[in-house]
Amino acid sequence: MNFRTVKRFALIASIGFVTVAVVAAALDEHSVLVAGEAPATSQAESRPGSGTEFSPFVDRNGNISLPRNYRREWAHLGSWAVATKPGEAVHELHDVYTQLETVASFNESGEFPDGAVLVKEVRATQANRLTTGHAAWSTEMKVWFVMVKDREGRFEDNPHWGDGWGWALFEAKDPTKNVSVGYDTSCLSCHAPAEASDWVYTYAYPDLKQPAK
Ligand code: HEC
Repeated sequence: MNFRTVKRFALIASIGFVTVAVVAAALDEHSVLVAGEAPATSQAESRPGSGTEFSPFVDRNGNISLPRNYRREWAHLGSWAVATKPGEAVHELHDVYTQLETVASFNESGEFPDGAVLVKEVRATQANRLTTGHAAWSTEMKVWFVMVKDREGRFEDNPHWGDGWGWALFEAKDPTKNVSVGYDTSCLSCHAPAEASDWVYTYAYPDLKQPAK
């Protein structure tokens, strides 16, 4: 392979947003194949310009965005199986995720650290009699509820922030848009039963150290 071909490979690789290191490797004739096969890693969470030093999911005006890689990269805190009435079928499964650092920090201090993010994924369900019993499993995505811990009261004038958290709601049809009206109208009253544990239903998350009784 001549130098010109190698250069073309390098160009293609850089157009594909493959990392600089891979482009450099492509200049080594023997690594070209490897470079061609390297998957372009998706780093949506650390895309420059989308966040701030405080949080990659919060811009300078306090607009919250939905984290995308939580299922692969974060800790699964717990699940809620929800039926409209006792005895009725489970019609939603709620799965809650947080960053790995948040679990470690919470278990050391008993508090959610600044920048902690909680994502509650709400999915529809399907159910059937399986060999395990009558089982329900999650199917299509409905909505995501997101909370971002703010220990400094950064966004006092923003209706989505207050009581130590940023609060947001995203729908499957447009995950880029926070459709919550404001946390006091859309969220707070329902979280009042959990006020003593910083508005979070921590008792359902076994990996978070529970307060001594
Ligand atoms: C109808 C009542 C209700 C409303 C409205 C509501 N929540 Fe919740 N939320 C709950 C309950 C109850 C749980 C835990 C049980 C469950 O999911 O079924 C929960 C759990 C969560 C969780 C998982 C962490 C935790 O607290 O355990 C997040 C994140 C969350 N809610 C965010 C929000 C945000 C943000 C809003 C407003 C946009 C909101 N919620 C509105 C009742 C509500």
